[in-house]
Amino acid sequence: MNVNIYVADASHVAYADAICELVYKSALERGTGIAKRSPEYIAGKMISGRAVIALDNGELAGFAYIETWSHSKFVANSGLIVAHKYRGVGLSKRIKKKVFTLSRKLYPNAKIFSITTGLAVMKLNTQLGFKPVTFSELTDDKEFWKGCEGCVNFDVLKRNDYRMCLCTALLYDPAQKSNSKITPVLVSAGKSLIINPLIKINSIISIKSK
Ligand SMILES: CC(C)(COP(=O)(O)OP(=O)(O)OC[C@H]1O[C@@H](n2cnc3c(N)ncnc32)[C@H](O)[C@@H]1OP(=O)(O)O)[C@@H](O)C(=O)NCCC(=O)NCCS
Repeated sequence: MNVNIYVADASHVAYADAICELVYKSALERGTGIAKRSPEYIAGKMISGRAVIALDNGELAGFAYIETWSHSKFVANSGLIVAHKYRGVGLSKRIKKKVFTLSRKLYPNAKIFSITTGLAVMKLNTQLGFKPVTFSELTDDKEFWKGCEGCVNFDVLKRNDYRMCLCTALLYDPAQKSNSKITPVLVSAGKSLIINPLIKINSIISIKSK
């Protein structure tokens, strides 16, 4: 297994059908709905450089793409998929990291979000610095929420006037990141030095003054 991850381009359009099929099959297996996308839509994402593809010597291993909402104030990293035989070895982590980096590069001021019922995605986003929020913090772009129409829980969302549903919303806010009072600091753990991002400036000052 030798999987490489690329920012997709026009040369990857031939994979669009297989990606849609894999997404559809996986949604059936999970018993959830999906924001269904056509091969043409996926191809468009590739051509515009807003997708990431994982290939193992030409074989499709995984995929994810970027969508923008509310005039690019919000970005969603969507359609994460890993082919069955490549699951459980950390590939989605690599894909997520790549699509997150690409999103930050293309839209440095945008808030990045995702909504999910999946534990894997919750873990992946949390590791990248996303925080759980209520739906009120996400885009109010009607086109985004239209994507939920294919979900088995859509009636719940509608009944709650789009304010809450069964998905957890996770948000990365670049403005909050730069204002954060939390800063990485080197702390000693036995003989080695590790980075502990959870120690606040206050505690560093108090450590220094001891
Ligand atoms: C969900 C999916 C993308 C995970 O891909 P993967 O490459 O197998 O995941 P990884 O090996 O990178 O694991 C990432 C983390 O998620 C966890 N994880 C992976 N699959 C999981 C599952 N089914 N249930 C719970 N946790 C899971 C892993 O333990 C790992 O956690 P860690 O960081 O604590 O070790 C893949 O199973 C898939 O394509 N599923 C179908 C599509 C889907 O559900 N997409 C998400 C839509 S919201």
